[in-house]
Amino acid sequence: MALSPINPNDALNITHALYAGSTGSGKSTATRKMGLIKATDQVVFWDLYGQYKDKEFLGRQVRTYSSLKGFLMALHAGRKTKQGFKIAFTPTNPPKDKSSIRKLFLKVCGIVWGMGNGKHPKTLHFIAEEINRVTITAGDEDSIYGELLEAGRKFNIMVHSISQRLAPIPNTVISMSGYKWVGCQNLISDVERVAKELQVKAADIMALNKLEYYFKGEGFGNVKNGKLRF
Ligand SMILES: Nc1ncnc2c1ncn2[C@@H]1O[C@H](COP(=O)(O)OP(=O)(O)O)[C@@H](O)[C@H]1O
Ligand SMILES: [Mg+2]
Repeated sequence: MALSPINPNDALNITHALYAGSTGSGKSTATRKMGLIKATDQVVFWDLYGQYKDKEFLGRQVRTYSSLKGFLMALHAGRKTKQGFKIAFTPTNPPKDKSSIRKLFLKVCGIVWGMGNGKHPKTLHFIAEEINRVTITAGDEDSIYGELLEAGRKFNIMVHSISQRLAPIPNTVISMSGYKWVGCQNLISDVERVAKELQVKAADIMALNKLEYYFKGEGFGNVKNGKLRF
């Protein structure tokens, strides 16, 4: 089943976000603390391993669905309203091999894509956890995920891509994510992939500790250094 978004709206000013750092660096926390998503927003999660199951996100209960059909129906019902929601997809038995995981991810992306509406009063925030596990190239993301990144903004969809790695993820993700949150890294190749773009010295990125970050907003030179607090 192919779903299509409606009401393309070029007047919308939406910038996607990328959060990259090693395990425990603060990526998931950053999606809640950087102010890009509010408690009352409509939020949908690709959550393969169920980290949001029975949890709250910004004080709101996350509802997790294990079948694509249930997920689609819940999301569709939610999008018919102006109310906020937090809806996650987590399969009961996640596939183990990358190509099956990717297939499933792209199905979820297709569902999210179909929920786009350039005239909807609320932005649909799509949090994609651990995208390094579902992408296969450092080049062009030629898929519905790439489509979400390139055209989602017109349909009021904001993509929040989360990755443990920077070097192997698609260029499309890096170039289309105007907001970049970069936490502590393990590998020099990952640091090098974004240091220049952030105009931050590789050594400064390598000096980050857990929960410390560089955050790039829209435009040039708009980079700040900070630490997440609870
Ligand atoms: N509510 C909280 N209070 C205190 N520490 C927390 C809380 N939530 C997460 N942490 C800690 O913050 C760090 C970053 O967590 P997280 O954002 O989940 O990292 P990542 O998504 O990059 O793996 C971890 O050390 C985690 O234990
Ligand atoms: Mg996380």
